[in-house]
Amino acid sequence: MNEEIGTVISGLESPSPSSVDFVVTSGVIHRGMFVELDYSEGTMICLVNDVVKTNRYFERAESVKEFESQGKKLFEQFPTEEWEFLIAKTRPLGVFSKKLVKRPSFPPSPGTKVKIADNKHLEQFLGFDLETGLELGKVEYHDLDVKLNLSSLLKKHLAVLALSGGGKSYLMSVLFEELLERNQEQGRIATVVLDPHGEYSSFAEPAEQGKKDFSSKTNLVKAEKVKIGVPKLSIGILSGIIPGLSSAQKRDLGRIISNLNVEMRRGLGAFDLKDVQTAIAGDKDMKENTKIALLGWISHLEELKLFSKADSPSISDLVEPGKLTIIDLSNIINVKKKQIIVSYFAQRLFYDRRKKLLPPFLLVLEEAHQFIPERAGKDTAIAKGIMRTIAREGRKFGASLCLVSQRPIQLDTTALSQCNTKIILRITNPYDLDHVAKSAEALDRRSLDMITSLRVGEALIVGEAVSFPVFFKVREKKSQDSKHEVSLEDAGRRFEESKKQNEEEAKEFL
Ligand SMILES: Nc1ncnc2c1ncn2[C@@H]1O[C@H](COP(=O)(O)OP(=O)(O)OP(=O)(O)O)[C@@H](O)[C@H]1O
Ligand SMILES: [Mg+2]
Repeated sequence: MNEEIGTVISGLESPSPSSVDFVVTSGVIHRGMFVELDYSEGTMICLVNDVVKTNRYFERAESVKEFESQGKKLFEQFPTEEWEFLIAKTRPLGVFSKKLVKRPSFPPSPGTKVKIADNKHLEQFLGFDLETGLELGKVEYHDLDVKLNLSSLLKKHLAVLALSGGGKSYLMSVLFEELLERNQEQGRIATVVLDPHGEYSSFAEPAEQGKKDFSSKTNLVKAEKVKIGVPKLSIGILSGIIPGLSSAQKRDLGRIISNLNVEMRRGLGAFDLKDVQTAIAGDKDMKENTKIALLGWISHLEELKLFSKADSPSISDLVEPGKLTIIDLSNIINVKKKQIIVSYFAQRLFYDRRKKLLPPFLLVLEEAHQFIPERAGKDTAIAKGIMRTIAREGRKFGASLCLVSQRPIQLDTTALSQCNTKIILRITNPYDLDHVAKSAEALDRRSLDMITSLRVGEALIVGEAVSFPVFFKVREKKSQDSKHEVSLEDAGRRFEESKKQNEEEAKEFL
């Protein structure tokens, strides 16, 4: 049995079905804790959303000032300590009876004893999956593992939001570990992460001592080596890559590509963009201005040096259940090229999954606001269409999206609102906070206030994966830290050392 910590008090507005205050009689209480109390229909579970101290002796500012300005101290003269009380303000979340949760419709009585919530009650109440759930951390102030059901967390998409340095990538590493450690019986999916800064490459490297090795379960793809096979480009994919195509241009380009595909199947071999150009140039049915426009588009794509006769590496070889595929985009500077690679991978994943050629997957988009921006120019929105499609339709096919961003306000509202679970780490910017509040109805004002005071590694999860918003502490990761994150000091030292070396070499040369 859990210890008794307080007693419900009677105030102006509490107890009510939506607010219950209690005075703490023993032990410690923190904002974010869960408490329970006996209730006519079962056990009522409440979330402590504020803790205040009161003391009658110090209530009236004028008396305190009057007294203390005479050089006397109130606490020396009166038993003030005995009159200091800790009042916890709570929000009743539900009433729990025989595994069913109901909304409270009338208040508990003043005088009811309050206990710290029992872990057994709490895990059922919050909707954790104890058997095969993904263990992301511990519920704050309760020794209770946060174990989230794979489907409820990912099926209807996930968003991970926090300011820069809030611990998003750390949390993602923890999630990857959980996904990689699942076995076939537990049901596992493939994970693909689009990694703009090369933060996750350490998963592909042999682990240093004391760290868990995931290298045999990780495929690392350097985006600069990626080649996109032109025969695999459907007109749907192409119009995603070339955003400005008119419907007439689409029709003609589609015809050219499908003719080339027919010829390829007849044994004439795979084709690339040069062959597409030749076919367009020699086509008799196409209008001259369509020709000019299409040839312009194609030669523009050709300049990116990204297309070839076949996919390399092949996507079906990369994406496997229980494995992590990292597409490291850190060496791609050209924005358009980066967008095309992201868009192509997302399209192939989605369409091939729809045809059941690939296992169910989670596609993780770091810096999601770069690829699904709320407002975007032509080159920066190439990937937006397919990402929106996955966000809208993916759940029917086992295609899940995880959007990771430090700028929620720059993130497309439509895509964000399709993310039915949100994990929010520290956010202080009021605009971002407001945006998050609008996209997560379950959050009340006090929970929002708590987000601004989260420390690194503390998170709030809200949405499909949990029955109620839960604050939790992200567990320690088992994989090694990214070796690619360099401190400013180290970067400075390296720069000066290499500069000195260059100078010495130049001197020797002279
Ligand atoms: N749960 C945690 N436990 C311990 N350290 C953590 C935790 N979360 C984050 N950190 C540390 O805090 C720092 C920032 O974390 P991280 O890189 O995950 O932030 P981020 O939100 O991804 O930032 P950015 O937006 O810049 O990518 C890292 O050094 C990381 O090791
Ligand atoms: Mg990060």
